[in-house]
Amino acid sequence: MGEILRRQFLQNVGQTSPAPLLIEVERAEGVFFYTPEGKPYYDLVAGVSVSNVGHANRDVVDAVKAQAERYMHIMVYGEIVERPQVEYAVEIAEALPAPLESVYFLNSGAEAVEGALKLAKRYTHRTEIISMRRAYHGSTHGAMSVMGEPEGEEWKNAFRPLLPDCRAIDFNSFDDLQQITERTACVLCEPVQGEAGVRPPKEGYLQALRKRCDEVGALLIFDEIQTGMGRTGEMFASVKYGVTPDIICLAKAFGGGMPLGAFCSSKEIMDSLQTNPVLGHITTFGGHPVCCAAGLAAFRYLKKHNVVAEVERKGALYEELLGGHPAVKEIRRSGLLLAIELGSEERLFRIMEIFKEEGIMSDWFLYCATAFRISPPLVISEEEVRDSAAIILRALDRL
Ligand SMILES: Cc1ncc(COP(=O)(O)O)c(C=O)c1O
Repeated sequence: MGEILRRQFLQNVGQTSPAPLLIEVERAEGVFFYTPEGKPYYDLVAGVSVSNVGHANRDVVDAVKAQAERYMHIMVYGEIVERPQVEYAVEIAEALPAPLESVYFLNSGAEAVEGALKLAKRYTHRTEIISMRRAYHGSTHGAMSVMGEPEGEEWKNAFRPLLPDCRAIDFNSFDDLQQITERTACVLCEPVQGEAGVRPPKEGYLQALRKRCDEVGALLIFDEIQTGMGRTGEMFASVKYGVTPDIICLAKAFGGGMPLGAFCSSKEIMDSLQTNPVLGHITTFGGHPVCCAAGLAAFRYLKKHNVVAEVERKGALYEELLGGHPAVKEIRRSGLLLAIELGSEERLFRIMEIFKEEGIMSDWFLYCATAFRISPPLVISEEEVRDSAAIILRALDRL
């Protein structure tokens, strides 16, 4: 049966990878998922920073069931008052630094980025968009246009022409900030670069970026799609690093395992999508009530169980346990987002094979083929950190 399903998967489910993992999943719970044969995998990817509250989280499952029974899709976005959407917007606004209080709900990260870029152009009446080299913001035409070169070039070239008036600067380069000028509508930046292989900001860099944007009247957009919802040890990396953007993009864990994204700004900025033209951004499914109910339940779970307060300690424990192994060249980390640097693509491929045998789900990074990822559900226990690290150390011994 598994073999037939795998063949159908390759034949009938659109493929973009020449070598998909091909692990069949039967069910998932906490930090594990299981194959039909009952083999457990430690999920150290969490669907790329999605399952922060763990798989099959009871609160989320109950919220999804209850909302699905009450109502699902009623009307396109922004017309009907839906309780899960409003309550989630209120609670997110309370948690975000002021003046970020207006939440526009969408279905995904790339869509959140698209909306944020449009909002910045609309509000500033400017066209230039600056993003960071080695950035990843999604795979639609707009999000791809701000995929940071040089690495992004490989993906972008076949799809040109893309958005005009986009330019890239180096993340963490203080000198490059001078390229942000009165022409610039916005600067889009991940506060910790994820797909570049976990690159935290240099001391003072985000502050300097904020200052430069203020000097020239450009909006600062933080893509917190991967860093948001507790991943870096604060609910938002903006809070951790003490810099408030004009627009913040959320997705991934924001939906508690369901597809949900958002861009958030002050009400003043957001309202510019209301006039000239009206309906400056339109979505049918954005803010789907079941997705909002799931996201809200996950968000409340994080707050009620103080999950985020434990993140830094667990991330540091992984670093301590793995850092001494001779195969590990470097560990880059922000909270529970870790890149374990092996310094060689060959070794990375080999470790991925061993992980698959040993029941560890890890992944490489889009722009970093020499390091593997550890970004487990944030609810992972200390014992599970120690146990999964022991398996990883055994795997590293086999390299
Ligand atoms: C930082 C960042 N921004 C945007 C995205 C795109 O999100 P989505 O895949 O939901 O479109 C991703 C996805 O990996 C991401 O890591």
